[in-house]
Amino acid sequence: MNDKQLVAVHAATHVQDDMLVGLGTGSTANFFIKELARRQSEENLKVTTISSSNISMMKAQSLGLTVVALQQVSAIDLYVDGADEITPNLTLLKGRGYDLVMEKLLAKAAKQFFVVADKSKLVKHIGSNFAIPVEVMPFAWQAVKKSIKNVGGQGDLRQNVAKDGLSISSYGSLILDMSFDQKISEGDLNQLLNNIPGVIEHGVFHQLATAIFIADDGNIEESWQ
Ligand code: A5P
Repeated sequence: MNDKQLVAVHAATHVQDDMLVGLGTGSTANFFIKELARRQSEENLKVTTISSSNISMMKAQSLGLTVVALQQVSAIDLYVDGADEITPNLTLLKGRGYDLVMEKLLAKAAKQFFVVADKSKLVKHIGSNFAIPVEVMPFAWQAVKKSIKNVGGQGDLRQNVAKDGLSISSYGSLILDMSFDQKISEGDLNQLLNNIPGVIEHGVFHQLATAIFIADDGNIEESWQ
């Protein structure tokens, strides 16, 4: 078992009968989905799921898990997802994919949010390895970019993989990938981005994680908020 699989299987041990479980997106979250499906078929675990992306929904359904829509629920028992960066105070950077709006909705709605990752995701400051994705209303991208520039942020619209067009999120929005001075605290950065009109959502997940499970060469370390 590799580290991503190990930590995902560990997180799945926290799932109990009759829980509504949020499914994340990415390679680590995929191992969690697989393990949940295995527990359902082999241990008769009774579980309902809700997905943070179409790709995870398709995976879950193909493995026999029941997936419901966000409109059908008011609270989620447990959400398990990966992250792109994790700081010592359990702030996360997420959304390198195209699904950060749904990811943050699930993180907020969940009674518990467990983050599963290997130790490569640990950083001192948010933005150490990646730019911060800021999902914007398409007609607002210039205005948002200017607002972010005024507070010292730099960056531009994310391009598609072929670099011949723009990246479009799962909900039809554009994405600005922005970098900030590392001296700004995660709390201030979160607040600042929350307050810019035209921003739909951004990749700083501050004070949302309940616990972080980190796999490091076959061992799992837990940090709780
Ligand atoms: C998806 O939008 C991200 O927030 C993911 O959680 C992240 O990219 C983790 O993916 P891996 O588990 O593949 O590293």
